[in-house]
Amino acid sequence: MERVIVSGARPTGRQHLGNYHGALKNWVRLQGEATCFFFVADWHALTTDYASPGEIEENTIEMVLDWLAVGLDPGRATLFQQSAVKEHAELYLLLGMLTPIPWLERNPTYKEQREQLTDRDLSTYGFLGYPVLQAADILMYKPRWVPVGIDQVPHVELTREVARRFNNTFTPVFLEPEAKLTEIPKVPGTDGRKMSKSYGNAILLSDSAEEITRKVKPMVTDPARKRRSDPGDPAVCPVFDLHKIFTPTAEREACATGCRTAGIGCLDCKDVLLKHLQPALGAIRERRQKFAEKPDVIVQILEEGSRRARRVAQTTMAEVRAAVNLTP
Ligand code: TRP
Ligand code: SF4
Repeated sequence: MERVIVSGARPTGRQHLGNYHGALKNWVRLQGEATCFFFVADWHALTTDYASPGEIEENTIEMVLDWLAVGLDPGRATLFQQSAVKEHAELYLLLGMLTPIPWLERNPTYKEQREQLTDRDLSTYGFLGYPVLQAADILMYKPRWVPVGIDQVPHVELTREVARRFNNTFTPVFLEPEAKLTEIPKVPGTDGRKMSKSYGNAILLSDSAEEITRKVKPMVTDPARKRRSDPGDPAVCPVFDLHKIFTPTAEREACATGCRTAGIGCLDCKDVLLKHLQPALGAIRERRQKFAEKPDVIVQILEEGSRRARRVAQTTMAEVRAAVNLTP
């Protein structure tokens, strides 16, 4: 059977190392192994940012530029924009008919985000229904797997429950997809917390070489190494987490030993990291610049991908309408 994979990302604009190692790198690998649909979840952005939608369009283009820069290939994966495939909205509506409200109220991200994003009113129908929209996004393409981060697993679980309920209530149309959790490295930001644009600690894939150096030099290290003569512990150092991703083993181990014995200083250690980080990001940045010169191409890629996605979505919706006794 054809192996289908679906995943989406909210349009968050320029992507950072955390987005790359947490998701995109994995997507690039998967596009060679299965039929992949990767989409910009712009309607999802509206569930929290409905009052300030101004940046969604630009953030979409900037994000997709990074997708192409890291090697996502519109010839191999279908890259599309959620709002361009209106069938997602129709399926969302129909799935909403049979989704019990308590399933949504007990969703952990619903509770968390309402507590955290206190600057806006999230007591909305759209925000509560967010996972139903996500279920529609997924089920539409009948995937076996949904590669997502651990935070999205409850949404994939709910998707399975909604699929089961639909199949039992009407006639089997949907597959129950599984979350595909891949091992992802820890990617700390420059302050040691999880890398996130909202923390202001992110290294962007589009940062210039100078910006990268300017961000890495003052990066937080093992707090026990106050002086050059204090030994440190790489295991608690965010710089070392980045070494694990970018620096070849022998050199990385030399840094670790130098750290534990105070044989090297943190700036020496960061120079080694930069030596490997710079060319890795340089290659991505160069590809990005080529695409950035032709913004129309990005729009075309999304249009073509959305057309392709829509053809699949129309087939699914014909089955769905028949199952619920609605004539097209
Ligand atoms: N909710 C996801 C996030 O915030 C984005 C998303 C929307 C998604 N629809 C999806 C992910 C479908 C996977 C499949 O990251
Ligand atoms: Fe971190 Fe390297 Fe400094 Fe050790 S030497 S604390 S690993 S930056």
